[in-house]
Amino acid sequence: MEDLATLNKQIEEMQERLRLQEKLSSLGMLSAGIAHEIQNPLNFVINFSKLSDNLLNELKQLLGSECTQLPQEEKEEIGDILCDLTENLHKIAEHGNRAISIIQGILLYSRGKEDEYVPTDAARLTKEYVWLGYHAMRANYKNFNISIHEDYADGLSAVKLIPQDFSRVVLNIMNNACYAVWKKAQEHPEDGYQPIIRIKLAHEDNILTLTIEDNGVGMSREVQQKLFEAFFTTKPVGQGTGLGMSIVKDIIEHKHHGSIHFTSEEGQYTRFTFHIPMNL
Ligand SMILES: Nc1ncnc2c1ncn2[C@@H]1O[C@H](COP(=O)(O)OP(=O)(O)OP(=O)(O)O)[C@@H](O)[C@H]1O
Ligand SMILES: [Mg+2]
Repeated sequence: MEDLATLNKQIEEMQERLRLQEKLSSLGMLSAGIAHEIQNPLNFVINFSKLSDNLLNELKQLLGSECTQLPQEEKEEIGDILCDLTENLHKIAEHGNRAISIIQGILLYSRGKEDEYVPTDAARLTKEYVWLGYHAMRANYKNFNISIHEDYADGLSAVKLIPQDFSRVVLNIMNNACYAVWKKAQEHPEDGYQPIIRIKLAHEDNILTLTIEDNGVGMSREVQQKLFEAFFTTKPVGQGTGLGMSIVKDIIEHKHHGSIHFTSEEGQYTRFTFHIPMNL
Protein backbone atom coordinates (compact mmCIF):
# COMPACT_ATOMS: atom_id res chain seq x y z
CA MET A 1 0.00 0.00 0.00
CA GLU A 2 2.73 2.34 1.07
CA ASP A 3 4.75 1.53 -2.05
CA LEU A 4 1.82 2.46 -4.22
CA ALA A 5 1.48 5.77 -2.46
CA THR A 6 5.20 6.50 -2.90
CA LEU A 7 4.99 5.59 -6.58
CA ASN A 8 1.98 7.81 -7.05
CA LYS A 9 3.81 10.65 -5.39
CA GLN A 10 6.81 10.11 -7.67
CA ILE A 11 4.58 10.15 -10.73
CA GLU A 12 2.98 13.37 -9.58
CA GLU A 13 6.38 14.95 -9.05
CA MET A 14 7.55 13.86 -12.48
CA GLN A 15 4.40 15.25 -14.07
CA GLU A 16 4.96 18.53 -12.32
CA ARG A 17 8.59 18.64 -13.51
CA LEU A 18 7.48 17.84 -17.06
CA ARG A 19 4.85 20.55 -16.95
CA LEU A 20 7.46 23.07 -15.79
CA GLN A 21 9.88 22.01 -18.52
CA GLU A 22 7.24 22.36 -21.21
CA LYS A 23 6.33 25.78 -19.91
CA LEU A 24 9.98 26.79 -19.96
CA SER A 25 10.60 25.53 -23.47
CA SER A 26 7.58 27.30 -24.94
CA LEU A 27 8.59 30.40 -23.02
CA GLY A 28 12.08 30.03 -24.50
CA MET A 29 10.73 29.78 -28.03
CA LEU A 30 8.41 32.69 -27.53
CA SER A 31 11.16 34.90 -26.14
CA ALA A 32 13.54 33.87 -28.93
CA GLY A 33 10.90 34.88 -31.47
CA ILE A 34 10.30 38.23 -29.83
CA ALA A 35 14.03 38.80 -29.36
CA HIS A 36 14.63 38.23 -33.04
CA GLU A 37 11.91 40.64 -34.09
CA ILE A 38 13.11 43.35 -31.73
CA GLN A 39 16.72 43.14 -32.81
CA ASN A 40 15.96 44.66 -36.26
CA PRO A 41 14.26 47.89 -35.16
CA LEU A 42 16.86 48.23 -32.40
CA ASN A 43 19.62 48.14 -35.00
CA PHE A 44 17.83 50.97 -36.79
CA VAL A 45 17.68 53.01 -33.60
CA ILE A 46 21.42 52.56 -33.01
CA ASN A 47 22.43 53.22 -36.62
CA PHE A 48 20.30 56.34 -36.96
CA SER A 49 21.67 57.71 -33.71
CA LYS A 50 25.19 57.23 -35.11
CA LEU A 51 24.27 58.89 -38.41
CA SER A 52 22.72 61.82 -36.58
CA ASP A 53 25.81 62.11 -34.42
CA ASN A 54 27.92 62.48 -37.57
CA LEU A 55 25.55 65.14 -38.91
CA LEU A 56 25.80 67.03 -35.65
CA ASN A 57 29.59 66.99 -35.87
CA GLU A 58 29.35 68.50 -39.35
CA LEU A 59 27.01 71.16 -38.02
CA LYS A 60 29.43 71.99 -35.22
CA GLN A 61 32.25 72.44 -37.71
CA LEU A 62 30.11 74.73 -39.88
CA LEU A 63 29.17 76.77 -36.86
CA GLY A 64 32.82 77.12 -35.86
CA SER A 65 33.93 78.23 -39.34
CA GLU A 66 34.54 81.86 -40.22
CA CYS A 67 31.83 82.06 -42.84
CA THR A 68 28.96 81.73 -40.34
CA GLN A 69 27.39 85.14 -40.04
CA LEU A 70 25.83 84.69 -36.62
CA PRO A 71 26.45 86.90 -33.60
CA GLN A 72 28.82 85.28 -31.07
CA GLU A 73 26.11 84.90 -28.40
CA GLU A 74 23.80 82.97 -30.66
CA LYS A 75 26.68 80.82 -31.85
CA GLU A 76 27.37 79.83 -28.26
CA GLU A 77 23.75 79.05 -27.56
CA ILE A 78 23.50 76.86 -30.64
CA GLY A 79 26.80 75.22 -29.65
CA ASP A 80 25.36 74.31 -26.23
CA ILE A 81 22.25 72.81 -27.77
CA LEU A 82 24.37 70.79 -30.19
CA CYS A 83 26.43 69.43 -27.29
CA ASP A 84 23.27 68.35 -25.45
CA LEU A 85 21.99 66.68 -28.59
CA THR A 86 25.27 64.81 -29.01
CA GLU A 87 25.07 63.60 -25.43
CA ASN A 88 21.49 62.43 -25.89
CA LEU A 89 22.43 60.54 -29.03
CA HIS A 90 25.25 58.79 -27.18
CA LYS A 91 22.77 57.76 -24.50
CA ILE A 92 20.39 56.39 -27.14
CA ALA A 93 23.20 54.32 -28.69
CA GLU A 94 24.47 53.15 -25.30
CA HIS A 95 21.10 51.94 -24.05
CA GLY A 96 20.26 50.51 -27.46
CA ASN A 97 23.47 48.47 -27.31
CA ARG A 98 22.59 47.24 -23.88
CA ALA A 99 19.21 46.07 -25.12
CA ILE A 100 20.94 44.32 -28.03
CA SER A 101 23.24 42.42 -25.69
CA ILE A 102 20.30 41.25 -23.59
CA ILE A 103 18.53 40.08 -26.72
CA GLN A 104 21.61 38.27 -27.95
CA GLY A 105 21.74 36.45 -24.64
CA ILE A 106 18.19 35.22 -25.18
CA LEU A 107 18.90 34.21 -28.77
CA LEU A 108 22.02 32.27 -27.80
CA TYR A 109 20.08 30.47 -25.14
CA SER A 110 17.49 29.19 -27.53
CA ARG A 111 19.59 28.51 -30.59
CA GLY A 112 19.48 24.99 -31.94
CA LYS A 113 22.87 24.64 -33.65
CA GLU A 114 24.75 21.33 -33.58
CA ASP A 115 27.67 21.36 -31.19
CA GLU A 116 31.11 20.22 -32.14
CA TYR A 117 33.91 19.14 -29.80
CA VAL A 118 37.30 20.35 -30.96
CA PRO A 119 40.75 20.03 -29.35
CA THR A 120 41.11 23.40 -27.65
CA ASP A 121 43.85 25.33 -25.91
CA ALA A 122 41.73 25.75 -22.77
CA ALA A 123 44.19 28.11 -21.04
CA ARG A 124 44.32 30.50 -23.98
CA LEU A 125 40.54 30.43 -24.43
CA THR A 126 39.90 31.00 -20.73
CA LYS A 127 42.35 33.91 -20.59
CA GLU A 128 40.84 35.50 -23.69
CA TYR A 129 37.31 35.44 -22.25
CA VAL A 130 38.37 36.46 -18.76
CA TRP A 131 39.73 39.68 -20.26
CA LEU A 132 36.81 40.10 -22.61
CA GLY A 133 34.49 39.95 -19.60
CA TYR A 134 36.64 42.48 -17.78
CA HIS A 135 36.69 44.94 -20.68
CA ALA A 136 32.96 44.57 -21.31
CA MET A 137 32.38 45.51 -17.70
CA ARG A 138 34.70 48.48 -17.97
CA ALA A 139 32.81 49.68 -21.03
CA ASN A 140 29.50 49.59 -19.14
CA TYR A 141 30.50 50.80 -15.69
CA LYS A 142 32.72 53.79 -15.29
CA ASN A 143 35.40 53.69 -12.55
CA PHE A 144 35.41 49.92 -12.70
CA ASN A 145 38.76 48.55 -11.67
CA ILE A 146 39.79 45.23 -10.22
CA SER A 147 42.81 42.99 -9.79
CA ILE A 148 42.68 39.76 -11.72
CA HIS A 149 44.92 36.96 -10.44
CA GLU A 150 45.44 34.25 -13.02
CA ASP A 151 46.92 30.81 -12.64
CA TYR A 152 46.87 28.63 -15.73
CA ALA A 153 48.15 25.07 -15.57
CA ASP A 154 51.36 24.27 -17.44
CA GLY A 155 51.55 21.35 -19.79
CA LEU A 156 47.87 21.31 -20.58
CA SER A 157 47.46 19.63 -23.95
CA ALA A 158 44.52 20.36 -26.21
CA VAL A 159 41.26 19.58 -24.42
CA LYS A 160 38.20 18.44 -26.34
CA LEU A 161 35.59 21.11 -25.75
CA ILE A 162 32.83 22.95 -27.52
CA PRO A 163 34.84 26.17 -27.61
CA GLN A 164 31.99 28.65 -28.14
CA ASP A 165 30.11 27.09 -25.22
CA PHE A 166 33.08 26.87 -22.89
CA SER A 167 33.90 30.52 -23.57
CA ARG A 168 30.29 31.43 -22.82
CA VAL A 169 30.69 29.81 -19.40
CA VAL A 170 33.82 31.84 -18.68
CA LEU A 171 32.12 35.03 -19.88
CA ASN A 172 28.95 34.47 -17.86
CA ILE A 173 30.87 33.69 -14.68
CA MET A 174 33.21 36.64 -15.25
CA ASN A 175 30.24 38.97 -15.81
CA ASN A 176 28.66 37.84 -12.56
CA ALA A 177 31.95 38.10 -10.67
CA CYS A 178 32.67 41.57 -12.05
CA TYR A 179 29.16 42.70 -11.22
CA ALA A 180 29.46 41.31 -7.68
CA VAL A 181 32.69 43.18 -6.93
CA TRP A 182 31.41 46.34 -8.62
CA LYS A 183 28.26 46.20 -6.48
CA LYS A 184 30.28 45.74 -3.32
CA ALA A 185 32.48 48.69 -4.25
CA GLN A 186 29.33 50.83 -4.71
CA GLU A 187 28.00 49.75 -1.33
CA HIS A 188 31.24 50.51 0.53
CA PRO A 189 32.84 53.43 -1.29
CA GLU A 190 35.08 54.56 1.58
CA ASP A 191 36.24 51.24 2.96
CA GLY A 192 39.44 50.84 0.95
CA TYR A 193 37.88 47.70 -0.50
CA GLN A 194 40.12 45.91 -3.04
CA PRO A 195 38.08 43.98 -5.60
CA ILE A 196 39.86 40.78 -6.64
CA ILE A 197 38.89 38.01 -9.05
CA ARG A 198 40.96 34.82 -9.05
CA ILE A 199 41.07 32.43 -11.96
CA LYS A 200 42.65 29.01 -11.74
CA LEU A 201 42.81 26.36 -14.43
CA ALA A 202 44.25 23.01 -13.40
CA HIS A 203 44.18 19.39 -14.54
CA GLU A 204 44.55 16.14 -12.71
CA ASP A 205 43.55 12.55 -13.54
CA ASN A 206 42.08 13.62 -16.85
CA ILE A 207 39.79 16.15 -15.23
CA LEU A 208 39.99 19.81 -16.14
CA THR A 209 39.19 22.11 -13.22
CA LEU A 210 38.33 25.76 -13.62
CA THR A 211 37.87 27.90 -10.53
CA ILE A 212 36.65 31.50 -10.58
CA GLU A 213 36.42 33.31 -7.28
CA ASP A 214 35.44 36.88 -6.47
CA ASN A 215 35.43 38.81 -3.22
CA GLY A 216 32.19 40.60 -4.13
CA VAL A 217 28.75 40.75 -2.51
CA GLY A 218 28.37 36.96 -2.17
CA MET A 219 25.03 35.18 -2.22
CA SER A 220 22.34 34.74 0.39
CA ARG A 221 20.96 31.26 1.04
CA GLU A 222 17.85 32.11 -0.98
CA VAL A 223 19.87 33.28 -4.00
CA GLN A 224 22.03 30.12 -3.79
CA GLN A 225 18.91 27.98 -3.94
CA LYS A 226 17.53 29.73 -7.01
CA LEU A 227 20.86 30.38 -8.73
CA PHE A 228 20.36 27.98 -11.64
CA GLU A 229 16.71 28.77 -12.29
CA ALA A 230 16.11 30.30 -15.70
CA PHE A 231 15.08 33.99 -15.47
CA PHE A 232 16.14 34.27 -11.83
CA THR A 233 18.02 37.52 -11.33
CA THR A 234 18.66 39.99 -8.53
CA LYS A 235 19.81 42.65 -10.98
CA PRO A 236 17.64 45.74 -11.57
CA VAL A 237 15.07 45.48 -14.35
CA GLY A 238 16.71 45.76 -17.77
CA GLN A 239 20.19 44.79 -16.57
CA GLY A 240 20.03 41.01 -16.47
CA THR A 241 17.93 38.30 -18.05
CA GLY A 242 18.69 35.77 -15.32
CA LEU A 243 19.67 33.23 -17.95
CA GLY A 244 23.44 33.23 -17.35
CA MET A 245 23.65 30.47 -14.76
CA SER A 246 21.10 28.20 -16.38
CA ILE A 247 23.10 28.40 -19.62
CA VAL A 248 26.27 27.59 -17.64
CA LYS A 249 24.61 24.56 -16.05
CA ASP A 250 23.39 23.27 -19.37
CA ILE A 251 26.82 23.68 -20.98
CA ILE A 252 28.83 22.11 -18.16
CA GLU A 253 26.55 19.31 -17.03
CA HIS A 254 24.77 18.28 -20.21
CA LYS A 255 27.10 19.18 -23.01
CA HIS A 256 30.45 18.51 -21.30
CA HIS A 257 29.31 15.87 -18.79
CA GLY A 258 30.98 17.85 -16.04
CA SER A 259 29.94 19.11 -12.63
CA ILE A 260 29.54 22.46 -10.91
CA HIS A 261 30.34 23.26 -7.28
CA PHE A 262 30.12 26.56 -5.53
CA THR A 263 30.56 28.11 -2.14
CA SER A 264 29.60 31.60 -1.16
CA GLU A 265 29.18 33.76 1.87
CA GLU A 266 26.96 36.81 1.80
CA GLY A 267 28.99 40.01 1.80
CA GLN A 268 32.27 38.07 1.45
CA TYR A 269 32.93 35.96 -1.61
CA THR A 270 31.66 33.53 -4.23
CA ARG A 271 33.68 30.68 -5.69
CA PHE A 272 32.62 28.53 -8.62
CA THR A 273 34.46 25.32 -9.51
CA PHE A 274 33.85 23.40 -12.72
CA HIS A 275 35.09 19.88 -13.37
CA ILE A 276 35.14 18.67 -16.95
CA PRO A 277 36.30 15.19 -17.99
CA MET A 278 39.03 15.54 -20.63
CA ASN A 279 38.60 12.19 -22.36
CA LEU A 280 35.21 12.88 -23.89
N1 LIG B 1 29.59 35.80 -8.41
C1 LIG B 1 28.39 36.12 -7.91
N2 LIG B 1 28.28 36.89 -6.78
C2 LIG B 1 27.08 37.20 -6.26
N3 LIG B 1 25.90 36.82 -6.80
C3 LIG B 1 25.93 36.07 -7.91
C4 LIG B 1 27.17 35.67 -8.52
N4 LIG B 1 26.87 34.91 -9.60
C5 LIG B 1 25.52 34.85 -9.67
N5 LIG B 1 24.94 35.53 -8.66
C6 LIG B 1 23.50 35.68 -8.38
O1 LIG B 1 22.78 34.79 -9.19
C7 LIG B 1 21.81 35.50 -9.98
C8 LIG B 1 21.60 34.78 -11.28
O2 LIG B 1 22.76 34.84 -12.09
P1 LIG B 1 22.64 34.70 -13.67
O3 LIG B 1 23.98 34.81 -14.25
O4 LIG B 1 21.85 33.48 -13.97
O5 LIG B 1 21.71 35.93 -14.05
P2 LIG B 1 22.11 37.48 -14.05
O6 LIG B 1 23.60 37.65 -13.93
O7 LIG B 1 21.29 38.14 -13.01
O8 LIG B 1 21.62 37.94 -15.47
P3 LIG B 1 22.36 37.62 -16.88
O9 LIG B 1 23.48 36.66 -16.60
O10 LIG B 1 21.32 36.98 -17.69
O11 LIG B 1 22.80 38.91 -17.36
C9 LIG B 1 22.37 36.90 -10.08
O12 LIG B 1 21.36 37.84 -10.32
C10 LIG B 1 23.00 37.07 -8.71
O13 LIG B 1 22.04 37.40 -7.74
MG1 LIG C 1 24.94 36.55 -15.20
